[in-house]
Amino acid sequence: MCGIVGAIARDNCVPFLIDGLKRLEYRGYDSAGLAIAQPDTHAIERARSVGRVAELEQQAGSLRARLGIAHTRWATHGVPSERNAHPHMSEGNGFTVTVVHNGIIENHDEMRRDLQASGYVFHSDTDTEVIAHLVHRHMSGGLSLLQSVQTASGQLHGAFAIALIASNTPDTLVAARKGAPLLVGIGQGEWFIASDASALITQTREMVYLEESDVICLQPTGLSVYDRKGQAAQRKSVISQLSADSVELGPYQHYMQKEIFEQSGAIAATLEMVSNASAISPQLFGAEAADVLPKVQQILILACGTSYHAASVARYWLESVAGIQTTVEIASEYRYRDSVCLPGTLVITISQSGETADTLAALEHSKTLGVEYTLSICNVPESALIRASKLKFLTRAGPEIGVASTKAFTTQLAALFTLTLVMAKLRQRLPAEHEAELLTELRHLPAAVSKVLECEPEVKQWAQRFADKHHSLFLGRGVHYPIAMEGALKLKEISYIHAEAYAAGELKHGPLALVDADMPVVAVAPNDTLIEKLKSNLQEVSARGGELFVFADRDTKMQSAPGVHVMKLLDHAGLLSPILHVIPLQLLSYHVALVKGTDVDKPRNLAKSVTVE
Ligand code: G6P
Repeated sequence: MCGIVGAIARDNCVPFLIDGLKRLEYRGYDSAGLAIAQPDTHAIERARSVGRVAELEQQAGSLRARLGIAHTRWATHGVPSERNAHPHMSEGNGFTVTVVHNGIIENHDEMRRDLQASGYVFHSDTDTEVIAHLVHRHMSGGLSLLQSVQTASGQLHGAFAIALIASNTPDTLVAARKGAPLLVGIGQGEWFIASDASALITQTREMVYLEESDVICLQPTGLSVYDRKGQAAQRKSVISQLSADSVELGPYQHYMQKEIFEQSGAIAATLEMVSNASAISPQLFGAEAADVLPKVQQILILACGTSYHAASVARYWLESVAGIQTTVEIASEYRYRDSVCLPGTLVITISQSGETADTLAALEHSKTLGVEYTLSICNVPESALIRASKLKFLTRAGPEIGVASTKAFTTQLAALFTLTLVMAKLRQRLPAEHEAELLTELRHLPAAVSKVLECEPEVKQWAQRFADKHHSLFLGRGVHYPIAMEGALKLKEISYIHAEAYAAGELKHGPLALVDADMPVVAVAPNDTLIEKLKSNLQEVSARGGELFVFADRDTKMQSAPGVHVMKLLDHAGLLSPILHVIPLQLLSYHVALVKGTDVDKPRNLAKSVTVE
């Protein structure tokens, strides 16, 4: 949520600031701004605009300076407007402090009152502005920019990453992180900061991931890092594996489209260790897994959004294949609920970004209840979530830029299926023959994904029929019910068509009342043991004049008829079927959004990484 960048460049930092913001735009895109420091005049120049970074680029095109900070915003405190856009400033006593901020300052009300009492006047509705005034007050009292930020960081509550410059120290950039990510990119005699590696990759591959509560000072002479106690600290740099290509659109029109079509490769990369092994082993989940997983008595999975749907699929697998009791809960609910935690519980958190505030807080909450065994499934190696868990599994989907998650979801499912096999084996529920069969199916999964993607032309035709609709129903049963939920989420996120998912058996307990010719009903129809039950549910829809769009397995005996459109995919894929069945639903939402002309990669009001609760 929100993206920040900053730089001390050898020459002009503005092109990097703009390019960095464009790469971070998926984190928030309601307004953008930048500020640069002019050493000769001791002035801070600022440009801000509502809307996309491209608009800021127009405004800021002629600005030049070596030192600057910039921000792309997803509004939390205060409406999207120029006055609420970052950077925020505090002026007085002959100097100006400027700040960009990602996250939330929880005690901003109290700080605002305190600062107002000292005579500071606020010009925005944001929580961020308190940081500018607070640092200004410390500097007015004689502290340096670095000392002021160190002191202020201790006074600010919440999770944040901030970067500041001041007009009276025009060669210094100070940044700090607490609960939100921040990286430094090391160039040749120049330094960059960003909230995400994808903004740095065009400048340098050498990066330093800052640790919790670090404060850094960048000057033309170099980088200094200070730890939570204010002591000078060393942080190792790493060479990022991210390639510039992985964050480029290439031949695709949208990131979502690119990411849908990358799924075969992403699953293959995620399963590389599994596919190359002759047998499944707990070590796939980290060095300590062989010790921890055999002690697990039950599982609790916590996640948000699409990751929650992956968790919901896994519940069916873990209970039916591994025979282990599994509950799944939305992280934002769990963290505030009084719950009972039984000994031997493995808490699994799933997150594409590893930054989702509610998921991180839910994990910490579980630890306060005495949970010892924790496992994170995540797509970002250096994320806070990965660091906070005992066991880990990295999905290797590559950067996911489209706000609507696609390849992160299917790679999460691949990871969760692997976990299911590990648990089943530990619990003596996976005979060697069955293990070998399932491993073979997993090895074939990337090819099956490529095959399913061939349904795109047919899906495109169906999409036309949704464009003028306002509501839709998605139905599924068993392990495909969460797939229907994911299909409905995709459609509402990017096409803004209201979409509800129901377990098909629930249809007659309410939603059937909504069915008419204007309410398309999408059904996920694998040829599994529930298919006959599902067919009866679909009859209930047809009998009420509803129009059905059925994604069926090739071996399902279902045919198109008036009001019933049936698309045949592949033969039933057994346990892996949910991974294949979600793909046409992703394509459907993508093509409906195209027909409607919505902003596919940056749907209104949403953001990719939800770092606030
Ligand atoms: C946001 C994104 C979703 C994502 C959810 C959870 O809402 O738009 O695509 O599923 O956050 O994010 P996470 O990074 O924890 O998987």
